[in-house]
Amino acid sequence: MASLNIAVIGIGYVGLPLAASLSKYNKVIGFDTSKKRIKDLKKYIDSTKEFNTKKLKKLNKLSFTSNSSDLENSNIFFVTVPTPINVKKKPDLSYLIQATKIVAKHIKKKTIVVYESTVYPGCTEEVCLPILEKLSNLKLNKDFYLAYSPERINPGKSKYKLNNTIKVIGSSNKKALNKLSEIYKKICLNVHTVSGIKTAEAAKIIENTQRDLNIALVNELSIIFKKMDLDINKVLEAASTKWNFAKFEPGLVGGHCIGVDPYYLTYKSEKLKYKPKVILAGRKINDSMGIYVAKNIIKFIKNNKIKSKKILILGASFKENCSDLRNSKIFDTIRYLEKRGAQVYVYDPLIAKNILSRSVKKIVTKLNKKYFYDVAVIATKHDQFIKMGTKSIKKNIKKDGLIFDLKSIYPTNQTDWRL
Ligand SMILES: NC(=O)c1ccc[n+]([C@@H]2O[C@H](COP(=O)([O-])OP(=O)(O)OC[C@H]3O[C@@H](n4cnc5c(N)ncnc54)[C@H](O)[C@@H]3O)[C@@H](O)[C@H]2O)c1
Repeated sequence: MASLNIAVIGIGYVGLPLAASLSKYNKVIGFDTSKKRIKDLKKYIDSTKEFNTKKLKKLNKLSFTSNSSDLENSNIFFVTVPTPINVKKKPDLSYLIQATKIVAKHIKKKTIVVYESTVYPGCTEEVCLPILEKLSNLKLNKDFYLAYSPERINPGKSKYKLNNTIKVIGSSNKKALNKLSEIYKKICLNVHTVSGIKTAEAAKIIENTQRDLNIALVNELSIIFKKMDLDINKVLEAASTKWNFAKFEPGLVGGHCIGVDPYYLTYKSEKLKYKPKVILAGRKINDSMGIYVAKNIIKFIKNNKIKSKKILILGASFKENCSDLRNSKIFDTIRYLEKRGAQVYVYDPLIAKNILSRSVKKIVTKLNKKYFYDVAVIATKHDQFIKMGTKSIKKNIKKDGLIFDLKSIYPTNQTDWRL
């Protein structure tokens, strides 16, 4: 390949940091079907909040487009489009298929197509490859090359970014694998090459499945220990003193990765006539935790003979220090409470009002209501909430108000309930 003309397809939480890193060494086109996203990025606005205006302005080798004809000269494509699940909790591959069709129109001899979107083992070769070959009239390994490299970054204020993460890469062709290793080594901590695309796909899916199951276990333990009048945090602290104890915290598992990826694996497994037992059991527990929390709030309100039900939720994003609302499980809690007559107010300083208003009826932009709420629920571990402490929360809730600390961020004796 003479010169690299890189295109990143899907400029979201994953695509933008990837395109930005690659553009330090090469010209990169960031393509997205969302005209709004491209318009914003051209104005140096990143709604994912991964980049501020100053940082975006510095990326002078990165251009943005929603016009697919601009991909004409691209010879290496990185696909980073969403891979969600549908209402039946089955893989929704529509974005991936649409992106593949766009790429297929532009591949030519020696093009490399790299998928980074999370998929089940086999998806790239069974679903994407036939589309690429059919629409381009070209043959894999004879004309063009295919690769899969899962994205493992942790968006938000996390220390795990592209530059300090090892990239796993699998490819259909040794030469393409070497070329990609060379490219990724410049932007990542290191690369770990595997012999096939399917292995790379499977590696990613088990990283998140393992995490989901571990959290499901502590969530279930938390439910059991509550019945035994035991504080799970104290139990975990004690158990963690053993060298091989893996410590996880109970909590709501939302987002588009941990709560979604296991379903990709179980879907494929079921297609192969094996119905997973452990993985789906974990999913069931984690998917039920939002309602479990809501039921406990109602129970506490009743037991404490509180008449009104004004509930303040602190944090709506699916994880700490992040503005991402997708599949956030606190909405299960909110809907359940609202159906039972509660007035639920949501405060999340990290999420823009216009975005929050799509899913929330009562938005709080400032915590300045004196002794107004009956219950405060701390749902995410935003640094801001940790710093704030219970003192300022208590000013907002009634004298006999309750604090539910779902993430155990405050000392036990300052709150009324934790997972
Ligand atoms: N966000 C994460 O923390 C994370 C981490 C690791 C892996 N992943 C995986 O990476 C993939 C992308 O996730 P994300 O969080 O960046 O999603 P995202 O929704 O933030 O971004 C995806 C972008 O793709 C665009 N898009 C949709 N269809 C398109 C198409 N046909 N052509 C071009 N653009 C299209 C959307 O408009 C959007 O801007 C998913 O498979 C996800 O599971 C995400």
